Amino acid sequence: MEVLKQIDKLVQEAQEEIAVSGSLGKLEELRIKYLGRKSEMTSILKGLGNLPADLRPQVGKRSNKAKTSIEQMLQKRNDELSDEIFNTLREDEFVDITEPGTKYESGHLHPITQMRMELEDIFTSMGFTIATGPEVETDYYNFEALNIPKDHPARDIQDTIWTVDGNPLRTHTSCVQIRTMEKFKPPIRAISIGRVFRYEETDASHEHTFYQVEGLMVDRNISVANLIAVMRTMLKAVFHREVKTRLRPGYFPFVEPGFELDMNCLLCGGKGCQVCKYTGWNEMLGCGMVHPNVLKRSKVDPDEYSGFAFGMGLDRLVMMRYQINDIRLFHSADLRFLEQF
Ligand code: DAH
Repeated sequence: MEVLKQIDKLVQEAQEEIAVSGSLGKLEELRIKYLGRKSEMTSILKGLGNLPADLRPQVGKRSNKAKTSIEQMLQKRNDELSDEIFNTLREDEFVDITEPGTKYESGHLHPITQMRMELEDIFTSMGFTIATGPEVETDYYNFEALNIPKDHPARDIQDTIWTVDGNPLRTHTSCVQIRTMEKFKPPIRAISIGRVFRYEETDASHEHTFYQVEGLMVDRNISVANLIAVMRTMLKAVFHREVKTRLRPGYFPFVEPGFELDMNCLLCGGKGCQVCKYTGWNEMLGCGMVHPNVLKRSKVDPDEYSGFAFGMGLDRLVMMRYQINDIRLFHSADLRFLEQF
């Protein structure tokens, strides 16, 4: 019977072509060719009605079988091709996810900046605000307003760098005390961290440019007890442990009384070592009760208000923390040094 042969032939041809088809695109073409709307198979099925009634079941059955078997062949080849594609991809684009990744170098903050941010966190958590002042100051803010008049011997303590037009590069951050009291009325709680400059011959412990943190607290009934409490809280937070402190008398024209604050040497625990020069104590900062003259000049009434102030070197604090023995390393831009932090 012609039609049955035609069907078998179609299956045969399809099988041959599918077997050698090399891509999914080609396979899709074959599907259209053999099973699509315009395929021979479709027209055979459509023509079923025109066949003599006794032939219809047989032809119908055979063509359905043929259709199914072509579909199966297509599916099988599809699976094979997909596997092949996947295998080549797997080889070509193999990624060993257990291999250590490429390390990208990223920078980090300078150890002094890290300390600065830590101190700002510590003090803001105690209700202090952060104040700023210029690095090129005026004689008034750097000396005069701080109770250091022109002929005062204290001016010799600080070897100053002057601009050609006669302004000092600030020798300390204490000037920000004045600027803060001019701007705000008590109660005042403020710190200021920044660079200061001295006309200095540099060595392992002296730099011409270094950092200080200045603090000021002015309110009614502020006493030395408040000063000690705030200093201890700060040092404890910086060094992450209990610290002992002691005050020794110290002279600074803008405070009265003035003190040097020492902390027990954390390296030897107070027994005495090279770092503390066998005293068991390390000098940390200068501080005191704000001098009435300073308050008066900044329009704060010393009969109503009192306050404490302190000034501390940041570089030395960082040096103590990491046991750095040369202050000049901070500005050396030496990566072998900087990459350790
Ligand atoms: N300004 C002083 C200095 O540079 C440090 C200092 C001492 C600051 C006592 C203060 C203070 O606020 O009360 O050496």
